Amino acid sequence: MNMDVLVSLSKRRGFVFQSSEIYGGTGSCWDYGPLGVELKNNIKRVWWRDFVQTRADMVGIDASILMHPTVWKASGHLDRFTDPMVDCRECKRRFRADHVDAVSWVHYCPATKGNKFTIPAGEPCGHCGQRRTLCPECGKGELTAPRQFNLMFKTFMGPVEEDAALTYLRPETAQAMFVNFDNVLQSMRLKLPFGIAQAGRSFRNEITPGNFIFRTREFEQMEIEYFVNPNERVEGRPADEYWHDRWIQDCMAWFGRYGLRAENLRLREHDRDELAHYAKRTVDVEYNFPIGWSELMGIANRTDFDLRQHAKWSGKSLTYFDEERKEHVVPYVVEPAAGVDRALLAFMADAYREEEVRGEKRVVLRFHPELAPLKIAVLPLLKKRDDIVGAAQTIRADLAQHWRVVYDDTAAIGRLYRRQDEVGTPYCVTVDVQTVGDSERGEAGDRRVTIRERDSMEQIRVPIAQLVTVFRELFDGASWSQLAEQYPPARG
Ligand code: GAP
Repeated sequence: MNMDVLVSLSKRRGFVFQSSEIYGGTGSCWDYGPLGVELKNNIKRVWWRDFVQTRADMVGIDASILMHPTVWKASGHLDRFTDPMVDCRECKRRFRADHVDAVSWVHYCPATKGNKFTIPAGEPCGHCGQRRTLCPECGKGELTAPRQFNLMFKTFMGPVEEDAALTYLRPETAQAMFVNFDNVLQSMRLKLPFGIAQAGRSFRNEITPGNFIFRTREFEQMEIEYFVNPNERVEGRPADEYWHDRWIQDCMAWFGRYGLRAENLRLREHDRDELAHYAKRTVDVEYNFPIGWSELMGIANRTDFDLRQHAKWSGKSLTYFDEERKEHVVPYVVEPAAGVDRALLAFMADAYREEEVRGEKRVVLRFHPELAPLKIAVLPLLKKRDDIVGAAQTIRADLAQHWRVVYDDTAAIGRLYRRQDEVGTPYCVTVDVQTVGDSERGEAGDRRVTIRERDSMEQIRVPIAQLVTVFRELFDGASWSQLAEQYPPARG
């Protein structure tokens, strides 16, 4: 599947727009539209429910983006959160030195009188055999030697722009969990193992952002810092190693539960030489994005690095008192760190299907019902009949007390169904003549409506009075086929 298809659908149907588009756009920043914000909120909501709300060993925080600048000295971000970059001396474009061979390159071939070719990444020219040495973009300029570039955005606190007021937009949400470790431990009287979770914005001045919302300069993370006692053993293994594997399994299962197909998910173990400075072991969950297999989230064993560093730089003790062993320990931490935007991209890519229905193409986003931005669309079969429109609007208002529901009467019914399929709405409710009857002929309506299910396109007739109960069952996990058995099919 092509990324352009998703970019275009996202814009057309209000999922994602380019930021400041009317001014030509800002590099690598994106705005979530009316459906995008619902989808994003749903992802964060189920993540919070599954990993915080329902677990006795988890709590959450919501920390400020601007933190004391020493946080970033202690964490190592000031000294080590860098990427090597190279500049083209001719066109001035900038590349990550370690990514420059991963893009196709422009070549003026001496063996063909200087004809211009675009050659696939990493391959030599088929005519002269040369490999890339110059700028891959313009094909003319030499590249500078690699220089380290810090990815943190600088800003100033207060009205004076001086060094003392310099601080940074956080490049990860994680550090707030470490610096609040003791506040959370004391206020919530927690026992190891326990975790602190946070979902919020992070900022990185990426050298080569791109691929839609995959790599951007402003993004959201959902991170967990799960603290364990390194002196404990669980099932015969050191607690940190046991919990690391448990989190890897739980995260994989979570993505599967909300619809990512197993064949599009895999784990990748970091090699020793690519491990971050704080990590004992890191495993990435990778997804087969439209750009190929890439990191969806990382799950690292950060040891006691962060708590020790913050204790050292702040002069405050960041330990846990182990009642059984009567000793103070510095907990180890396992960190499942996911990107909200990347998760959204994966859920969208996986949900996207093109199907043929009665000789016509149907585009459908098969979102898990919990993630779907719109849960129900209420559609009147005839928009000229005031009684049908009135009944449909009342139904919308009633259902909207519980779920995100829309009303649409701007096209014929077939078209309206296709529109809802394309944005992944799991159910449509149709109000027709049978529902309301015909008062002029003295015919009473049956007060039943049609519910149409997105994936099977099956339709059943359900009394209006039972709609809330039926949808509650469906959104609580009842299968469509179980439910459909209890009601007569609608005439299609
Ligand atoms: N606290 C650890 C940490 O931040 P990371 O691997 O740098 O680890 C975690 O980031 C996740 O955040 C990534 O797996 C990815 O999903 C997301 N992420 C990181 N940089 C991103 C960017 N520039 N744009 C979008 N998402 C990003």
